[in-house]
Amino acid sequence: MIVTEVMTQPAVLILLGPPGAGKGTQARMLEEDFGLVQLSTGDLLRAAVAAGTEAGRQAKAVMEAGELVSDSIVLAILRDRMAQADVAGGIILDGFPRTAGQATALDSLLSDAGQRVTAAICLEVDDEAMVGRVSGRTTCAQCGEGYHDEFKRPATAGTCDKCGGHDFKRRADDNAETVRERLKAYHAQTAPLIAYYDGKGVLERIDAMGAIADIRRALGAIVTRVSA
Ligand code: AP5
Repeated sequence: MIVTEVMTQPAVLILLGPPGAGKGTQARMLEEDFGLVQLSTGDLLRAAVAAGTEAGRQAKAVMEAGELVSDSIVLAILRDRMAQADVAGGIILDGFPRTAGQATALDSLLSDAGQRVTAAICLEVDDEAMVGRVSGRTTCAQCGEGYHDEFKRPATAGTCDKCGGHDFKRRADDNAETVRERLKAYHAQTAPLIAYYDGKGVLERIDAMGAIADIRRALGAIVTRVSA
């Protein structure tokens, strides 16, 4: 008798999409809905810049120019984060991988742990709308909750819905000129990963031009299906 062993592994979800597609917004909602942990290489790099580490010093100018930080720096930061205990229940990779080299490095990292990518979910948007989305973004300085001047305002103006903080900040790279550079980098180096994950049979696509709550529901349905 042949017994097919069903391997259960913690979910490894990738959110693919250009700047402003809603990766961070939806990743934080998936954390709430599914108990997964968001790993954002953008957030990890910004923390390294703020802490003044060697990696942060090297990354700062590259990020402000809207270009991609080197694979070696990003992979070192991501490996450290993935070694922490809280990721054991499943992760949402937000902003990683972004190059072919990062995608193959992720495959080997997961393979060493007996895991693989559960799904790579591509948030499909119109580039034109992304400049407006990104340049209207604010973030709570205390808890990191994201907002938008027009599309996602706090319930009480000036007060974070999540933590009650009153200090909101804007990212140094969230200006129209840098966003255009980030969009170029996305199309040149990251968009080819859509075909890579399609070839592996794990690609999911979602229309991410609708309302945040509708996208949350559609994403939730995908995550429920692929995690079953
Ligand atoms: P990173 O921080 O990853 O930025 P990004 O990929 O450019 O994406 P964003 O954070 O701008 O957008 P998002 O898709 O998360 O959108 P959000 O949910 O915030 O990277 C920054 C830099 O770090 C890179 O340029 C690079 O230099 C470096 N870097 C990071 N990772 C790297 C890697 N792996 N390799 C190399 N370099 C790396 O939404 C945006 C706004 O829109 C918000 O205000 C939100 O409220 C609003 N919004 C969201 N959804 C909707 C909706 N459906 N309708 C209306 N508004 C919406």
